[in-house]
Amino acid sequence: MTVPVRWFVMLCAWGLALQAVSGLAADGPDSVAVLVTYHSLSGSTEKMARAVAEGAKAVPGARVALKRVGEVTGPDLFSSDAVIVGSPVYWSNMSGEVKTFFDNWQFKFGVFPEFKMRNKVGAAFATGGQVSGGKEVTMLTILAAMLGNQMIVVSGGGAFGASATTEGDSPGIDDKELAEARDLGRRVAEVAALIKRGARK
Ligand SMILES: Cc1cc2nc3c(=O)[nH]c(=O)nc-3n(C[C@H](O)[C@H](O)[C@H](O)COP(=O)(O)O)c2cc1C
Repeated sequence: MTVPVRWFVMLCAWGLALQAVSGLAADGPDSVAVLVTYHSLSGSTEKMARAVAEGAKAVPGARVALKRVGEVTGPDLFSSDAVIVGSPVYWSNMSGEVKTFFDNWQFKFGVFPEFKMRNKVGAAFATGGQVSGGKEVTMLTILAAMLGNQMIVVSGGGAFGASATTEGDSPGIDDKELAEARDLGRRVAEVAALIKRGARK
């Protein structure tokens, strides 16, 4: 192999390795970009987020990014076909960080008046200390913010999204809760792919 050819082969291999590490793949017509984003202080919601991402990745063609809400940029949001948001329950509602994230859709990213998130798929997940301490309210307020942005909200795992109880008699995240989270991720990626395919017709 001549030196220039060897360099070319090495550069191609390097590019492919980078793609594999970053989780990015070529953006083909059947690919969907799913953003999984969350706030988590003690790690429970993060654990659910990883399982949601895992479920989404299981759908052929899904490109999945996993980020904390504070790390999400405008291009992350606008290049996504689906956004799945997770929050711990704080006082029976989403945490302030997650609310700020949604407020920043306007303050930082300027979604309005064009409704830049319109027709993207949205979904929610939550963790809460108590069995009946506000997980469903938390997911519903996340979905409400998405509906206000004219997104297409879907459930998966449970009726309003995936959730886990993390304290008291049910400490941590169990396998059933992780399976719910994977279900949610998978369903969101599947629906996003259906919508993208439908929009091409
Ligand atoms: C300020 C604060 C308020 C909370 N309020 C509630 C609540 O209203 N209901 C509930 O079930 N859990 C509540 N919790 C418990 C958390 O929701 C729970 O521990 C959660 O799993 C933490 O998620 P993380 O590990 O991702 O930070 C609260 C925790 C904090 C710190």
